[in-house]
Amino acid sequence: MHTRTLGKDLEVSAVGLGCMGMSHAYGAAADTHEMTELIAQAVEEGCTFFDTAETYGTRENPHHNEELVGEALKPFRNKVVIATKFGIRFDRSSDAVNLPLITDSRPETIRASVEGSLKRLQTDHIDLYYQHRLDPNVPIEEVAGVMSDLIREGKITHWGLSEAKEETICRAHAVCPVTAIQNRYSMMARWYESLFPVLEELGIGFVAFSPMANGLLSGKYGKNSVFGGKEDYRSVMPQFQPENMEQNLELLELLQNTAKEKNATPAQISMAWMLCKKSYIVPIPGTRKPERLTENLGAADVKLSPQEVAALDEVLDKIPMSQVYGGASIIKK
Ligand SMILES: NC(=O)c1ccc[n+]([C@@H]2O[C@H](COP(=O)([O-])OP(=O)(O)OC[C@H]3O[C@@H](n4cnc5c(N)ncnc54)[C@H](OP(=O)(O)O)[C@@H]3O)[C@@H](O)[C@H]2O)c1
Repeated sequence: MHTRTLGKDLEVSAVGLGCMGMSHAYGAAADTHEMTELIAQAVEEGCTFFDTAETYGTRENPHHNEELVGEALKPFRNKVVIATKFGIRFDRSSDAVNLPLITDSRPETIRASVEGSLKRLQTDHIDLYYQHRLDPNVPIEEVAGVMSDLIREGKITHWGLSEAKEETICRAHAVCPVTAIQNRYSMMARWYESLFPVLEELGIGFVAFSPMANGLLSGKYGKNSVFGGKEDYRSVMPQFQPENMEQNLELLELLQNTAKEKNATPAQISMAWMLCKKSYIVPIPGTRKPERLTENLGAADVKLSPQEVAALDEVLDKIPMSQVYGGASIIKK
């Protein structure tokens, strides 16, 4: 698979693997042995970019995902880029399916987080360390200062911001250069396209999370799809509600038709669309299934011309669509 450069010098495969769903948000955690094999398969198929977070876990083990990813990537550590995140925890006292988030980017919390992540990931450095959400109580300059220190100490080599807006990006970058933002981006969630100019000006990469709108854009889900119960966020996501499904039929037809023309699948088209739009966009789709992993990584080989991307954008601007999931709420604690 070809590679892309995030920021000045972080080389990653054009498509990464989001590991969150192996532990969190899509029902009970998947089988550890199977996920370890899946991660090895990803490396074998050319993926070098793996995404996790200290907070992706289960009720029993809040750091399940980092442990899984660390163990699975141990044999390949020098060949891969590991990205993880600090700065939030879930409010597990809540009854909501999509647990509210509590932000905490105090320097002492970040210090404790980085040590925990290094240990669980079984590594001496994190390649890309993101602030998971902005903490309204801690100025971003202070967080960026901690990132400078961690880089100097060799504990992290690059840093980034998740769900970041323009002002935060600029203020953060002025203190310690930001390598990438990681924001929600898909054909159904295009609101961060407004950041393209500032990312280009500052030379910052865009890692796209939930690039298939949590799977909907694959065209494999319908009114009768059954999700994994109480811990499956899809059960409350607007795009998967049976009463909303009809609003997305035209969009799914557009994907089907383009897929046919390009000898690809709808999931691949949904990611080729962003890959071919900007050279600094890197989607990180997540899956638990070997055949879908191959399909998703294959998006890097699907070529759409600038005219084809623009034509898709034009249709996307007008086509009816349901609401799409926009993330869990942030609460003050
Ligand atoms: N920074 C943040 O705040 C944030 C938030 C959310 C996610 N993320 C990161 O982004 C990664 C990906 O995001 P995401 O999981 O929310 O959304 P996504 O990648 O758009 O969708 C994942 C969902 O789609 C299904 N799927 C994957 N490939 C498929 C295919 N080819 N055909 C049909 N269904 C497919 C998966 O189910 P199966 O497992 O059954 O295939 C899973 O339920 C996460 O793993 C995480 O690392 C970051």
